[in-house]
Amino acid sequence: MRGMLVFIFQALLWPAIPVSALFTVNVQKSAYEAELHGDVKLVCVFSTVKRPSDLTVIWSRVNPKPDVDVYRLEKGKENHNYTSALFIKRAQLIQQQLNENKAVLHLKNLRIKDSGTYRCIVREGDEGDYKQVTLNVTAPYTPIKKSIRKTGQDEVELSCESQGFPSPQVIWSDGQNVNLTEKSNSSAHNTDEDLIKVISNLTVKRDLVNNYTCSFLTKGGIKQTATFSIPDEILHGCSAQYVWIVAVVIVLLAIAFISVFLRRRKNGQKSRRNESSKCAFLFPSLPSANSDSLLTVNENRPQTCDITSEELAEKSPSLRDILTQQYSQLDTDVEVKRKIESYALHSKEGQSLNISSILPDKKQTILLLGEPGSGKTTVAQILSSCWARRITADAFNIHRLHLVVLVDCSRAEGDFFQVVKSSFNYEKPLDVSDLKEMLLGPTDCLLILDGYQEGNKVLDETLKGFLTERQTCRVLVTSHPGQCPALEKTIRTVLQLIQRPEESGS
Ligand SMILES: *[C@@H]1O[C@H](CO)[C@@H](O)[C@H](O)[C@H]1NC(C)=O
Ligand SMILES: *[C@@H]1O[C@H](CO)[C@@H](O)[C@H](O)[C@H]1NC(C)=O
Ligand SMILES: *[C@@H]1O[C@H](CO)[C@@H](O)[C@H](O)[C@H]1NC(C)=O
Ligand SMILES: *[C@@H]1O[C@H](CO)[C@@H](O)[C@H](O)[C@H]1NC(C)=O
Ligand SMILES: *[C@@H]1O[C@H](CO)[C@@H](O)[C@H](O)[C@H]1NC(C)=O
Ligand SMILES: *[C@@H]1O[C@H](CO)[C@@H](O)[C@H](O)[C@H]1NC(C)=O
Repeated sequence: MRGMLVFIFQALLWPAIPVSALFTVNVQKSAYEAELHGDVKLVCVFSTVKRPSDLTVIWSRVNPKPDVDVYRLEKGKENHNYTSALFIKRAQLIQQQLNENKAVLHLKNLRIKDSGTYRCIVREGDEGDYKQVTLNVTAPYTPIKKSIRKTGQDEVELSCESQGFPSPQVIWSDGQNVNLTEKSNSSAHNTDEDLIKVISNLTVKRDLVNNYTCSFLTKGGIKQTATFSIPDEILHGCSAQYVWIVAVVIVLLAIAFISVFLRRRKNGQKSRRNESSKCAFLFPSLPSANSDSLLTVNENRPQTCDITSEELAEKSPSLRDILTQQYSQLDTDVEVKRKIESYALHSKEGQSLNISSILPDKKQTILLLGEPGSGKTTVAQILSSCWARRITADAFNIHRLHLVVLVDCSRAEGDFFQVVKSSFNYEKPLDVSDLKEMLLGPTDCLLILDGYQEGNKVLDETLKGFLTERQTCRVLVTSHPGQCPALEKTIRTVLQLIQRPEESGS
């Protein structure tokens, strides 16, 4: 021991002097622990001295190697000529404590690398002694940063990240306290401040309900834990990245939806505008001078086109679509215009009526009589055509009906519904019960029975049954005078269609 001390003094270019056994240095504590950025006071206690001004104190760090000079007081005077740059301004001897026989080294703003073994040498005159203490600078682990990452179809990777010093023990467990540490995978690297940053991952099944806890343990008992509730946290606890992706997708969908909606609205308005002008062309407001004309359609000016409630509450799109398809090909606008102008409509009593009176009210039946060739079939076709093309300003305002069914009855026989069904130009078989339900129920529809002749028993009776049973359906029957005597008796509204004489010039 004495030999070593002599060697140290020589190494410090100190004159070789005998050290008295009477002068001793002791420590209160041999190990110190302090936190990063904190401070610490390392204490050596020495024997009473006669002249404190003669005192020499040397603090140096001797482990890790190489040794560095931390603080030096030579015969009462500070000498920074040997002090390591690492400790300049951070190391001080507390002068007042020298009077209490204590050589107290005050280290400030601690760094992780300040950890090590410190030696104090105290001398007075030709007597001296030394002791060593250890210092551990630690950094508590930061609160754990959790993240969840999808790694497979049914797997997620839970990740815990924290930094501190010294290196921790990371333990994973589940809700039943099963130790899952062996299944985890950790990586560590050093930060600028010599801290250890640890990321520990555990891969689990994404739809298995469980709690997973990661714990960071260090020797000093400093502990950080975090728990994942799976699968709850996969949705809300996801990393901000996922939240962002979801948010962006939602915004994009909203933009797409709005633009499609606006375009459809725009197109819809455009096409309805087209239809309105088509209608206006079809049924021009005739000059008032023509007010006696049966074709005056002043009351039927183009009206604003809105989606009707029937269109929104589509009940049987298939039937409606089939008929729309079937009737929209019947006539061209020019033909319709020309034809409709050539008809006159009279009541049974001979009073002239607007052509729009041809459309029955709800649950009303109209019998339209006309001589052969008077154009009953043509008018029936015009009605269905106007309906099919959804012309919003037709003379009959027929577009608002949900369904128009035109049935050619000239050679019809058998059950009424079968006859109606056979009027559909449709390759696939239609369900009669659907049709029945539609015509008997509350759907606003128009059934046109064109060219009806009484005399077929089954048809007459089933039709009669239908006319009494139906809830709403409008029915227009066209026939030659005298061919439907029974109907003529029961139906109140009987109209006559007359082909007007050719008007020259117009
Ligand atoms: C420190 O070194 C300088 C020059 O190397 C010297 O002049 C000065 O006296 C020294 N200080 C002490 C306290 O020894
Ligand atoms: C200081 O750290 C060393 C190694 O890092 C360890 O062996 C020792 O127990 C620690 N001392 C204290 C007081 O924490
Ligand atoms: C869990 O297992 C790891 C290694 O497999 C072990 O180091 C640790 O002590 C265990 N922890 C508990 C709480 O059993
Ligand atoms: C941990 O990761 C390494 C490299 O990524 C891999 O080789 C090893 O198998 C993994 N261990 C576990 C338990 O997942
Ligand atoms: C742990 O997960 C993180 C992020 O999910 C990844 O960057 C890192 O490479 C993973 N580490 C290991 C050891 O698998
Ligand atoms: C998970 O933790 C929550 C909160 O402590 C608890 O209510 C729940 O029962 C736990 N679930 C499982 C599967 O352990």
